[in-house]
Amino acid sequence: MLASFFILLEAIPMDTLLQDLLNQLSNTNKIHDLDQLKSKILGHISSQMKGMKDLPIESRKEFGAKINQQKNYAEDLILKQREYILKQEQQRKLASETIDVTLSPRGNNLGTLHPISLSLNRMQDIFGQLGFDVADGPEIETDYYNFKALNIPDNHPARAMQDTFYTSSNNVLRTHTSPMQVRYAEKRKPPIKVIVPGRVYRVDMDATHSPMFHQMEGLWIEKGISFANLKGLVIEFLRKFFDDESLELRFRASFFSFTEPSAEVDIKSKSGKWLEVMGCGMVHPSVLRYMNIDPNEYSGFAFGMGIDRFTMIRYGINDLRLMFENDLDFLNQFRGEM
Ligand code: FA5
Ligand code: MG
Repeated sequence: MLASFFILLEAIPMDTLLQDLLNQLSNTNKIHDLDQLKSKILGHISSQMKGMKDLPIESRKEFGAKINQQKNYAEDLILKQREYILKQEQQRKLASETIDVTLSPRGNNLGTLHPISLSLNRMQDIFGQLGFDVADGPEIETDYYNFKALNIPDNHPARAMQDTFYTSSNNVLRTHTSPMQVRYAEKRKPPIKVIVPGRVYRVDMDATHSPMFHQMEGLWIEKGISFANLKGLVIEFLRKFFDDESLELRFRASFFSFTEPSAEVDIKSKSGKWLEVMGCGMVHPSVLRYMNIDPNEYSGFAFGMGIDRFTMIRYGINDLRLMFENDLDFLNQFRGEM
């Protein structure tokens, strides 16, 4: 390929060293080698240029012209060889990157839904059919919505540092989804019928407690709502969710400062153990007032479900922590689940 450039060579007088260096050009096939050779060639030419001052004045012009000719010629050769090398490299690259469209595909590696997302979707579907809206709210919550508007007094143990993550003296990582009751209802007029799923945080960690977990709040406020409505809804929901018309459950009297009366609901696991899955109750009149709703006119109920607990029971997961470890062997078991 370079043969044609070298024909010119004879017309330009040069020493054998330069001739030899220029001959080597056609053997370089890496840019790095070319650059090294280039600096040798140009170095040689410029060292000859330096010798010019020792020549008699009358020969200098001719000598200078000859050196310039050599230099232009050498630079031209180097440039052409560079283009040649780059083109070769590009062709090699294209050859190695060809796509064989006749090869069979590698199979699909689609992800799967996390079991908590599966439960959440299922819960939202069921509540959707029962006429509930879905809302969502801030995970960093003010003391007011997380505690005060829920009738939780200043000295209540739930406010203690060992249970609550404080982000500042007045802000917390919400310890439950209940603050959304007041946030949602204070701006609206009954009837109010909403669920609020989301992350909540507590200083808590063992096989059934996680520092971050998920709750689903529910709120239904309307004229004439009673505990019987709460019970009916919870039973219908639980039996639908666990796909078991004869699911055994019990309402156990409990205490929450924002509901009165209050209950916790346990369901019987396959192994016969009672497991607490949610808290609930009739919205306390003080909380209705924080919602700007007249407790003499309206009543309502609220509930808070542990989405992670529901998930553990539904899929027979014995350790809550498995759900937050991103272990692919664990997650792949839910492929195809709905
Ligand atoms: C509450 O959080 C109340 N806000 C529930 C409520 C709402 C009552 C509305 C009345 C009206 P509790 O702390 O019991 O209550 O939590 C509710 C559910 O969240 C529990 O039944 C349980 O299923 C789940 N849960 C509680 N702590 C954890 C935890 N650390 N890890 C996983 N799930 C938890
Ligand atoms: Mg509880």
